[in-house]
Amino acid sequence: MLSFKEIQEKIEREIGQLEFDCPPKSLYEPITYILSLGGKRIRPALVLMAYNLYREDVEKVIRPAIGLEVFHNFTLLHDDLMDQADKRRNKPTVHKVWNANTAILSGDAMLIAAYQLIGETAPEHLKEVLDLFTRTALEICGGQQYDMEFESRMDVSEEEYLEMIRLKTAVLLACSLKTGAILGGASREDAENLYRFGINIGLAFQLQDDLLDVYGDTRTFGKNIGGDILCNKKTFLLINALRRAEGEQKAQLEHWIARKDFDAAEKIAAVTNIYNVLGLKELSEAKMQTYYAEGMKNLAALSVSEERLAVLKEVTSRLMFRQS
Ligand code: IPE
Ligand code: IPE
Ligand code: MG
Ligand code: MG
Ligand code: MG
Repeated sequence: MLSFKEIQEKIEREIGQLEFDCPPKSLYEPITYILSLGGKRIRPALVLMAYNLYREDVEKVIRPAIGLEVFHNFTLLHDDLMDQADKRRNKPTVHKVWNANTAILSGDAMLIAAYQLIGETAPEHLKEVLDLFTRTALEICGGQQYDMEFESRMDVSEEEYLEMIRLKTAVLLACSLKTGAILGGASREDAENLYRFGINIGLAFQLQDDLLDVYGDTRTFGKNIGGDILCNKKTFLLINALRRAEGEQKAQLEHWIARKDFDAAEKIAAVTNIYNVLGLKELSEAKMQTYYAEGMKNLAALSVSEERLAVLKEVTSRLMFRQS
């Protein structure tokens, strides 16, 4: 069995060997740029860790695994454009270095390259893996659409939020795990339990991302703090703030949401202060804990020995408390 460090090294080496150096330069350079900025590489790691629960020869599935990372990075190019985000992984975003059209088209090329890499799956599993990936990619589009629509709505429920983050974030983690399980020859039941585990840790993962967007340190997080507040993203924090705030506080919150002209730092400070007074960080962390606990139950249901699960468990617990 491989350690997480060994898995990470394999992924980094393989990504480093991807070649996007053909013309036109302006199409491929942004791809090399975003892929060279690192990131946690959690999705391909989940493929390899799930596969490694059943088989040792992880090299065999590295190409589809990095296909999922290329796909994830494609979603980031489009997401940063949609969210008007200037910074990612401590560097200017692609649409800032180049322009919006480049972020769109280089992103499209990455989606296509992702399909090519995932297409290198062993023929006996190809249809199932491609079906799962295609369904997942469509679900992510749905999640992203809800995310955008919710910005201008004031009545988004917690339930709607959870479904939105299931779609935009959790399904890709679940798909990564299930892909590893399918390729590793896991039973149908194990593959389903790994998928459910992925959904649970994916929901916790996005809750933590939303928390870091307010309470993180920009140098370690690599993104600008307060971006979600500035565009009125209906995060778990904002939805619960709207639900819990009363009187003057509620009026203040609604005022900041409605305002078109404002000083960014002032809005971020004011909204963060409301979150603090309402104890929403703690509420969010408690919600994360419940998903984490559910995820652990999914792992316990697998037909895999306790010791083989150690790496996956360690990585999951680190993800919950991550700062980046
Ligand atoms: C960012 O994903 C987008 C979300 C789903 C929150 P990651 O937090 O995995 O970003 P990188 O790849 O590590 O930079
Ligand atoms: C991103 O959600 C989900 C996808 C990229 C599909 P966010 O918009 O919260 O991700 P970050 O914070 O920009 O990484
Ligand atoms: Mg974003
Ligand atoms: Mg977004
Ligand atoms: Mg975010």
